Amino acid sequence: MHTGKLEIVEITDITEECADVFTVMYRDRTKASPGQFIMVWAPGVNEVPMSLSFIGDEKGFTFRVLGKTTTALSRLGKGDRIGVRGVFGNSFRPVGSRILFIGGGTGVASIISAADLFSPGRRAVAAIGAKNRDGIFFAGRMKQAGADVLISTDDGSQGEKGFVTAVARRVLEREDFDTIIACGPELMLRRVAELASEFRTPAQISTERFMKCGIGICDACSLNGALVCRDGPVFDGEFLLGCDDFGRYRLSPCGARVPI
Ligand SMILES: Cc1cc2nc3c(=O)[nH]c(=O)nc-3n(C[C@H](O)[C@H](O)[C@H](O)COP(=O)(O)OP(=O)(O)OC[C@H]3O[C@@H](n4cnc5c(N)ncnc54)[C@H](O)[C@@H]3O)c2cc1C
Ligand code: FES
Repeated sequence: MHTGKLEIVEITDITEECADVFTVMYRDRTKASPGQFIMVWAPGVNEVPMSLSFIGDEKGFTFRVLGKTTTALSRLGKGDRIGVRGVFGNSFRPVGSRILFIGGGTGVASIISAADLFSPGRRAVAAIGAKNRDGIFFAGRMKQAGADVLISTDDGSQGEKGFVTAVARRVLEREDFDTIIACGPELMLRRVAELASEFRTPAQISTERFMKCGIGICDACSLNGALVCRDGPVFDGEFLLGCDDFGRYRLSPCGARVPI
C-alpha cells in the first residue's frame, strides 16, 4: 500500500558498498516493486528521495554521499532511527525474454532490484559504468542475479575505458533485446534513449528531479508537465526524447529552470 505518512523505522544494517556509497537496511512490510522510491528523512536534517535497492520485507536504499542529508545518513548506524514515506512512483516492467540493464554511477542502485527479479530465466546483460573503479558497486549482485556483467570506467581503471553507453552500443549491435532498463546521470540517459530509438528497442528509464512532496502535489518535480514522483520515476525512452527538458534543463529547489 502507498502511504504518504512518515514512518519511523530502525536501521537494521548499514554497509559501505564502495567509496562514499552506503546501503541502509530497515524492516518494512509495505509491498514494493523494482524502480519505486521512498522519501527518507534524516532526523534534524532533511528529507530526500531514494530508490529502493532492496524491495523485500527487509528494504534498503543505496546512496552516494553528496550533501548534508546523505552525509548525515552515512554517519548513522544499526539501531538508529530514520523516517521513511512511501513507497512511491511507478516501477520497471519485465518485458520479453531478453533484457539489457544499463547503470551509470549511483544509478545502479535504482535498477538492481529489477535485475534481481527479472534476470532469472531470461537472457540478461548488465552494462555498469562509473568514473573510476572506486565507483563500481553491485557488479557481484548483478552476476548473482544471472546477468552477464560488463564494466566500464571513464578512466579505464576497471573494465573497459570509456562511457557505459559505448559498451551498450556494442552489445546492441551484436544482440537484440526486448527492453532496456536504465538509470544514471541524465546526460547518459538521454544517450540511452537515443540508442534505444536507433536500435528500435523499448527503453524504461528512471529519472531524477528535485522532489518535495513525493506525491504529486507541489509540482517541484515537473518534467515538461509530467510529474516524476507520480507519473515516473520510470518513463519510456520515446516519451523522454520528446521532452525538451530531458538532458537539458531541470527545476531548482525554488522552481527556476536551470541548465543541466
Ligand atoms: C526518484 C529519485 C530517486 C533517487 N534515488 C537515489 C538513490 O537511489 N541513490 C542516490 O544516491 N541518490 C538518489 N537520488 C538522488 C538523491 O535524492 C540526492 O542525491 C540527495 O537528495 C542529495 O541530498 P543531500 O542533502 O545529501 O545533498 P545536497 O547537497 O542537498 O544536494 C546534492 C544534489 O542532490 C540533488 N538533490 C538534493 N535534494 C534533492 C531532492 N529533494 N530531490 C531530488 N534531488 C535532490 C540535487 O541534484 C542536488 O544538487 C534520487 C533522486 C530521485 C528524484
Ligand atoms: S515532488 Fe511534489 S509533485 Fe512531485
